[in-house]
Amino acid sequence: SEPARIVIAVDGTSGSGKSSTSRGVADRLGMRYLDTGAMYRAMTWWMLSNDVDVHDAEAIAAAAGKPVITSGTDPLGPTISLDGADVSVEIRSDQVNAAVSPVATVPEVRARLIALQQQEIREALAAGTGIVVEGRDIGTAVWPDATLKLYVTADPAARAARRAAEEGGSDAAAVLASLQNRDKIDSTKGGAAVPEGATHLDTTPYTLEEVIHLVVELVETTVGDT
Ligand code: DC
Repeated sequence: SEPARIVIAVDGTSGSGKSSTSRGVADRLGMRYLDTGAMYRAMTWWMLSNDVDVHDAEAIAAAAGKPVITSGTDPLGPTISLDGADVSVEIRSDQVNAAVSPVATVPEVRARLIALQQQEIREALAAGTGIVVEGRDIGTAVWPDATLKLYVTADPAARAARRAAEEGGSDAAAVLASLQNRDKIDSTKGGAAVPEGATHLDTTPYTLEEVIHLVVELVETTVGDT
């Protein structure tokens, strides 16, 4: 088996355990990790910081080429920078949570970020490192030839409880409403879909360790078969 040559596409819903799973699997297999949601969030933070109206699709489209977005792909400490400054904290703010879906639906934003993501994947493969890429459209639009495609979901109440804990003990009911609202926009306009050939993984009954173990086994089986 050669994890060096593989691309794992991880799509699914927020709070499904997708991020922790992706990082854990990348760490276990010595692969890079790319959080594409962080790139949409960084783009959104740039718009907010530069007084671009996030509900004006034309203004967003016109500005989409401006921010310089750089991803640090270490699964144990992923980072995201905007024009050279680390914005890992800013991209998790309520302001960004509220504005990221409309920004992510603008075609110019998607085209630019998809191209950046594909470049990151090519670099990882050229460096002889595999990469785990997490998002909403990885197996469909970003890298349809991925070695393994996963579609990760969890029961909505379990998702809200997890996300509330991640956000430092916010109210789970409010988090559930906000997640459902974003899912609705993401699934109708953001290009999110279950990729063809994806393995559906419902994480509800499992611990994170169990999910990571399951996926590592799946990778080994998939790579062993090719
Ligand atoms: O996974 P996340 O919550 O960090 O994603 C933030 C937003 O970005 C979410 O509204 C969906 C959008 N997104 C997207 O449209 N395409 C991706 N590949 C990743 C995220």
